[in-house]
Amino acid sequence: MKKQLLALVATLAVGASALAADPKLVINADQPGPVIHRNIYGQFAEHLGTGIYEGMWVGPESKIPNVRGWRKDVIGALKDLKVPLVRWPGGCFADEYHWREGIGPRSKRPVKVNTTWGGVPENNAVGTHEFFDLVEQLGAEAYVNGNLGTGSPQEMAEWLEYMTAEGNSTLAQMRRKNGRDKPFRVHYFAVGNESWGCGGNMRPEYYVDLYRQAATFLKTPEKNRPLFIASGGHDARTDWTEVLAKGLKGVPFDAISHHGYTLPTGKWEKKGSAVGFPEAEWISTLAHTQKIDEWVRKNTAILDQHDPAKKVGLYFDEWGSWYDPEPGSNPGFLVQRNTLRDALLAALHFHVFHANAERVKMSNVAQMVNVLQAMILTSKDQLVLTPTYHAFKLYAPFQDATSLPAKIDHNPVYKVGATEMPGLSATAARGKDGKLYLGLVNANPNQPAALTVQVGSAAPKSARGQLLTAGAMDAQNELGKAPQVVPQAYEAQATDGQLTLKLPAKSVLVVTLEG
Ligand code: AHR
Repeated sequence: MKKQLLALVATLAVGASALAADPKLVINADQPGPVIHRNIYGQFAEHLGTGIYEGMWVGPESKIPNVRGWRKDVIGALKDLKVPLVRWPGGCFADEYHWREGIGPRSKRPVKVNTTWGGVPENNAVGTHEFFDLVEQLGAEAYVNGNLGTGSPQEMAEWLEYMTAEGNSTLAQMRRKNGRDKPFRVHYFAVGNESWGCGGNMRPEYYVDLYRQAATFLKTPEKNRPLFIASGGHDARTDWTEVLAKGLKGVPFDAISHHGYTLPTGKWEKKGSAVGFPEAEWISTLAHTQKIDEWVRKNTAILDQHDPAKKVGLYFDEWGSWYDPEPGSNPGFLVQRNTLRDALLAALHFHVFHANAERVKMSNVAQMVNVLQAMILTSKDQLVLTPTYHAFKLYAPFQDATSLPAKIDHNPVYKVGATEMPGLSATAARGKDGKLYLGLVNANPNQPAALTVQVGSAAPKSARGQLLTAGAMDAQNELGKAPQVVPQAYEAQATDGQLTLKLPAKSVLVVTLEG
């Protein structure tokens, strides 16, 4: 009798799951949303650990092949990624950086202590000219972060003049003497960084006054006017956005920066491990991205009240995973491994930024090489492309694409203990090439998913693209070893007038839809 009862319960359970409707994605191609600015795919290079020195800059005398000091292999990989923008020199470092120490003959530049990051010597080998050489080699835009914390309005104004002046002012001539005739093109300029913390532990009201004072003197030729960024809040905070949006009228001001890192445990003292983590930390990490969507929406709602014309941007200029430091590394160097989890985390961020593209016109992952959620890891002359690199590459067609509303019906819930999140996430856009692109994430590391796709009421005929997945949640690409996370070609054809995309467990997929 007991056996029969169990069989009945099992049959009912199968019946119930068979009845559960399959997930269905509907893309509304007739209602285009905002353009996804390419600079949403921006990068960040700080004077921190081996992020710049060794990782990218080896100097012109190095045996490692380089172009004027920048590693050829790293530049090549970053060019393939179509890096649109690089932020420099920090981060926290920016508020201790004095630009005059980074110009002129490198042998004569002062050696300082990088007090924020590891207490190591900073020889200023990479300064303004080297940075612009980097962005010009990459074909990227330049985002320069000014020093408000230990600098002055005069120092910031003179740096801008040095970079942008056309005439024969002493600073323009100094730039020419240092090897650059034409002005540098500065696309973005920020006044301080994290002024609530490492940038000076200020209150937003005090920052507003300092910003107003500095911005009054930040002048450039009109055609080389950067977008001016005020240093805003972080995470769920909205107070900085509120005070800045109200207080910065009447001075050059184009955007507020906002920072939000993802820590598996949510605790700075014990963030969680980059590899060998439990499933509870897989889901906590990915579910955190949902919170970022909420943070962006709360902050943009405040901007909507003060700036209904939507002129002011919300730039998410630091984001990414932040784990416990790699055992044995200098904790001030923020070295961490990069796994499949990071690829999903990056893709989920892209979905949030695309959905909020009206205000989020720029973001910078932290950071480009060897630091936090890096694209590339190096050691001496070796280099490896991380899972995050591959996620950025998969999503490159979304740069400057026009976002399209995309909604998943019957999205399965993925749950571990008390934490739950939608199992699937999607984003769609019309690329600059006219093609329809679709990005998908299956966050569930145990269950594959099958998703039917409709564009309006019609089913596309086929999908073609690239898939990123691996056997383990913490599969990684390590130096000197065969990579475990590499993109695979993906193709699906419609059958009986229906296109179904099969997503393996824990995967990222980007396809073009045809027909
Ligand atoms: O990206 C590392 C650091 O994180 C940056 O320097 C700082 O702005 C943030 O706290």
